[in-house]
Amino acid sequence: MSEWLTCITCNRRYDISEIRYTCECGGLLSVERDQLPRDTSLFERRRASRKTIDSSGVWRFREAVLSVPEEQIVTHPEGSTRLYEREGLLFKHEGENPTGSFKDRGMTVAVTQAVRLGARVVACASTGNTSSSLAAYAAQAGLRAVVFVPARKVSAGKLAQTLAYGATCLQIRGDFDTAMRLVLEASKHLGIYLVNSINPFRIEGQKTIIWELLQDLEWNAPDWIVVPAGNLGNTSAFGKALREARQAGWISTTPRLASIQASGANPFYRSFRDSFTGRHRITAETIATAIRIGDPVSYDRAVAAIRYTGGVVEQVTDDEIMSAKREIDAMGIGCEPASAATLAGVHKLRASGVMRKEDRVVSVLTGHLLKDTDAIMKSHAGRSIEIEPAIEAVEKALA
Ligand code: F0G
Repeated sequence: MSEWLTCITCNRRYDISEIRYTCECGGLLSVERDQLPRDTSLFERRRASRKTIDSSGVWRFREAVLSVPEEQIVTHPEGSTRLYEREGLLFKHEGENPTGSFKDRGMTVAVTQAVRLGARVVACASTGNTSSSLAAYAAQAGLRAVVFVPARKVSAGKLAQTLAYGATCLQIRGDFDTAMRLVLEASKHLGIYLVNSINPFRIEGQKTIIWELLQDLEWNAPDWIVVPAGNLGNTSAFGKALREARQAGWISTTPRLASIQASGANPFYRSFRDSFTGRHRITAETIATAIRIGDPVSYDRAVAAIRYTGGVVEQVTDDEIMSAKREIDAMGIGCEPASAATLAGVHKLRASGVMRKEDRVVSVLTGHLLKDTDAIMKSHAGRSIEIEPAIEAVEKALA
């Protein structure tokens, strides 16, 4: 089956084995292919299989992800995350991936492609989850990983995880957007393979979040899919996944996407409010460090995703994020702050009447609760009480 790269701006085509992240015109690239499998029963059979690549929630859909010999696939495996139903809402928990975030779905594909292209060193800029995921997959593939993170703005757990898997960590004096510009330059000058979501192979893997959740719902599309938005890789991937699922006939209606940003890191929301007439670049600040991004690289692809699905972009404050996080944690599910932007967004979109009470809504929780323990300790400070080892002290503390 043939696959190629297409520029989403000028439609120019490139060979799939060419190392490039953008078109000569500057446009973003997309992996395209001749045809997709029509019959979803293939995916059902694989889901029940014990073979590693079949049990991967990414490679189960391999004909629509990347055409590559099975023995070349670098997989943990990943995906096959749970879909929870709580209080009338559905939550697809991508924090249940091997390194605790949805990034593993894109990384298995990008690192597989890196190996195929003969790369020795792989790199990314990151707010901590992409770096953890890259470090793990690079370790498995025997590649050197170099990560560019904003100094002192990544949670301790994510930084520790990235180091533990063996990546070289460059703490950039600047924010994520500065680190992103630097890693782009480094990939051009130093011949390092870049695996941020500007890399179209990442998008191919992340599409499977949508396909797996549609499979969870027996291919009955929900009304809404809600996702936190930072660098806009996921919003882009979700739009592409829905377009392809419709084209292949896997679903008969298209859910609307709702991309939720933190109000202090809201360039995409600002553009949406302006009917996408212009791109915004801001200096970002939010408690949800995962999405502390002011100049998202996948902007153009994400605009296409919102337009294609008749979607919306909403913003929520840090207080709304942390309150929604406490709600999700109290359901016994839990997630990191950025993921909770989804539920905060649902509350807001319901209040404004954009989302109806009877709509079927799936929120994608992007990262595991333990990814950011600092944020938890700050919001529950009063509930952890040090006492003397005496029964009277226990009684007093519980009173
Ligand atoms: N949620 C979490 C937990 C994330 O880590 C990220 C992005 C997002 C949401 C936003 O997704 O960028 O596709 O719009 N984290 C990146 C990282 C930037 O480096 O880990 P997006």
